[in-house]
Amino acid sequence: MDAAYKRVNGSHEAETDDRGTGRRRGSMYLEEETNKKSEVISCIFSLKEEVGALARALRLFEDKGINLTHIESRPSRMNKDQYEFFISVDSTCSQALDEVIDGLRTQISGHVHELSRNKQKDTVPWFPNDIQDLDRFANQILSYGSELDADHPGFTDPVYRARRKEFADIAYNYRHGQTIPRVEYTEDERATWGTVFKELKTLYPTHACREHNRVFPLLEKYCGYRQDNIPQLEDVSRFLQSCTGFRLRPVAGLLSSRDFLAGLAFRVFHSTQYIRHGSKPTYTPEPDICHELLGHVPLFADPSFAQFSQEIGLASLGAPDEYIEKLATVYWFTVEFGLCKQGSEIKAYGAGLLSSFGELQYSLTEKPKLMPFDPEKTSLQKYPITEYQPVYFVAESFEDAKEKVRKFAGTIPRPFTVRYNPYTQSVEVLDNTQQLRNLADTIGSEMGKLCEALRKLA
Ligand SMILES: [Fe+2]
Repeated sequence: MDAAYKRVNGSHEAETDDRGTGRRRGSMYLEEETNKKSEVISCIFSLKEEVGALARALRLFEDKGINLTHIESRPSRMNKDQYEFFISVDSTCSQALDEVIDGLRTQISGHVHELSRNKQKDTVPWFPNDIQDLDRFANQILSYGSELDADHPGFTDPVYRARRKEFADIAYNYRHGQTIPRVEYTEDERATWGTVFKELKTLYPTHACREHNRVFPLLEKYCGYRQDNIPQLEDVSRFLQSCTGFRLRPVAGLLSSRDFLAGLAFRVFHSTQYIRHGSKPTYTPEPDICHELLGHVPLFADPSFAQFSQEIGLASLGAPDEYIEKLATVYWFTVEFGLCKQGSEIKAYGAGLLSSFGELQYSLTEKPKLMPFDPEKTSLQKYPITEYQPVYFVAESFEDAKEKVRKFAGTIPRPFTVRYNPYTQSVEVLDNTQQLRNLADTIGSEMGKLCEALRKLA
């Protein structure tokens, strides 16, 4: 799992784990080894719930000699009388799969959605257009949340493992628009949270950015942030929606960088709901609810930061793989480990810092090297995953960082520009004159309001 989290709250005990292996899984269910997924092709097709439907579909694969490496099913959200099947095949079957997909479309099912393929360079990778499309990621995780590495503190604890499966199942079955199921946290889980909460809270006034400190009391007031209570994702998500339109959705396991970043484009943050193992409250090898609620959530309630995060997400849609890696690195050095100027001081706004007692202190000492945030350079910076960061990037402000990311996004080779429409909760691809006319109308209307308000103020 993400080794960066092996030192949450200052624990160095795992520094030797994974070091030098080159394994790189970024934060927050982010980043797999980028070339691996091109080795399989995945697609989703839907079938009417009737006897023999699946057999007929599978026969198409059989006839072309295609071996399925993975298949799973779920009831379709769009059509109640249909089932969706998610399948993966080896990329060597690429050509034959085209014929099968044609067959599925014409003979069996009108709905076939190709999710990944070793694309030719001039094709645009698939990306979600509508917020509901994020549901597809629920079944596209790289590992299930209950699968623990052998060095995980809960690896030999059957109770903890069973508990993790409960959380993974909640997320796996969650669909957009549903209420996030409430969880009755155990006394042990609350005690773990309490230890982390108490320690970090002592550092926030001096180390956290002002936006974090401004929101934190609101979370205590409205969302049940207390030492003896683990807040519920649903309550926090509603709070965030009222502040910035950001929302949380539970995630069952590791998402690819592409999928995780795409969520940000819709102001959706994929959040864990489980908590670290109680035997080591200051240590977790992966993001957990302490990291999400204490590190990420306060910042997502800030309008400028929310826009900044969404900008990274929008830049990722349809971007080539090498740019996804760059954007994931930008995300790493900002949303996870970012520092920013505030007056004459430097403060932390990255969630990896704000949820790590040890690194939060370290980051503001003389030890690390500080560099100005510049996406061109930041996106190329290598970073260690099993120790404190030797380099941090300092943003002038969230506004400034947002503008820089926007400019950087302009350098990504995409034959279109995207824009998020909050009314329809969908991404508009600005690649035709009608779309541009609609945008001009919207801007015209907003400009009219701005001018009117300025006149009234004058
Ligand atoms: Fe994170």
